[in-house]
Amino acid sequence: MNFTDTVLVTGGAGFIGSNFVLSWMETLGTPLLNVDLLTYAGNPANLESVEADPRHLLVRCDICDTDHITSLLAEHRPQAIVHFAAESHVDRSIIAPDAFLRTNIQGTFTLLEQTKAYWQELSEPDRSSFRFLHVSTDEVYGSLGPDDPAFSETTAYAPNSPYSASKAASDHLVRAYHHTFGLPTLTTNCSNNYGPFQFPEKLIPLMILHALEGKSLPVYGDGSNVRDWLFVEDHCSAIRAVLERGRPGETYNIGGSSERKNLDVVTTICDLLDEMKPDPAQGSRRRLITFVKDRPGHDQRYAIDTSKIARELGWTPAERFESGLRRTVRWYLDHLEWVEKIRSGEYLKWIEENYAERLAP
Ligand code: NAD
Ligand code: TYD
Repeated sequence: MNFTDTVLVTGGAGFIGSNFVLSWMETLGTPLLNVDLLTYAGNPANLESVEADPRHLLVRCDICDTDHITSLLAEHRPQAIVHFAAESHVDRSIIAPDAFLRTNIQGTFTLLEQTKAYWQELSEPDRSSFRFLHVSTDEVYGSLGPDDPAFSETTAYAPNSPYSASKAASDHLVRAYHHTFGLPTLTTNCSNNYGPFQFPEKLIPLMILHALEGKSLPVYGDGSNVRDWLFVEDHCSAIRAVLERGRPGETYNIGGSSERKNLDVVTTICDLLDEMKPDPAQGSRRRLITFVKDRPGHDQRYAIDTSKIARELGWTPAERFESGLRRTVRWYLDHLEWVEKIRSGEYLKWIEENYAERLAP
């Protein structure tokens, strides 16, 4: 399918959303309406390079605001919606789950309900070619043991955190709107992303910045938990493939085939920084690694079976983990100004709240 009319993106000022917007403008260059509440995680500075581009419009809007969503749909008449907006950090969902239920469940429901009303009024061929793509996570499948097979699209849902439970609920709503109303939906369930513009509350940017500043590197538990890592640009190309060629009503798992133990990720970051930004007075950054109190209910392992998206849509990731991590470290080293701007009072408060107790003896 070709995209010539407006595509509406929610959460396009966040980490993955802003990477998607920037790559969309570079590759397709068709009009894009970016709907984002600009919470602590949404940052217009990510979109500086398209700020003056008339094809991109950023509108501050809460996806729970029915009237605002309805009027944006009526005014901009999108041919597709790509839904990223969410509360996305597991640790925050443990400390304060309310916002997760509101945005991830109520917000997705509001969006689906208003989209259904808009879509039902479309005439052919626009009605058949319309798409609602819901961006979700592999965390809905729960936790794997060391020898379990990777998550496939038919793995039973078993979410373990308030974050993953709220995402699972939103996935079920999307499924129901396809099954009951025929809304042409697509759902993607992706593994852990990393790359430019990631908010430094997540593992990789947090460790890069702490290591750079000589602060302790807080590894939860014994660091043996395993995540599958995907470079964010590869996630964006997978979403474009699903949007263009995915079958309505289907779900597609997306992953990097790069399972790594957390401790290995952190030591690799230390070694990269020792090489790229040597500080001989300090010695190796590995000495900063500190094992701290574990996350409650910490999922042990995630792994993704990507055979469906590879077979049906011909998508495979372009970046390898080691080179992608090097690019990411380079990006943070080159964008310390961006980091300084987002380290607001709110960010510092979070770091204090999440780590003070973990680091206590
Ligand atoms: P993020 O937290 O960096 O960005 C979320 C964006 O949503 C922010 O711009 C924020 O302002 C916006 N937002 C939050 N509440 C909103 C609301 N009520 N109305 C409108 N906008 C709102 O998240 P991310 O890491 O970019 O993740 C994007 C999506 O991808 C999420 O749905 C997440 O579940 C999913 N996902 C993330 C990962 C990952 O590793 N980060 C992996 C798989 C799937
Ligand atoms: P995170 O980036 O929060 O993503 P998710 O929980 O969605 O997978 O965390 C990735 C892994 O790193 C996870 O197993 C928790 C661990 N972790 C730490 O060990 N220390 C930290 O300070 C953070 C933020 C995460």
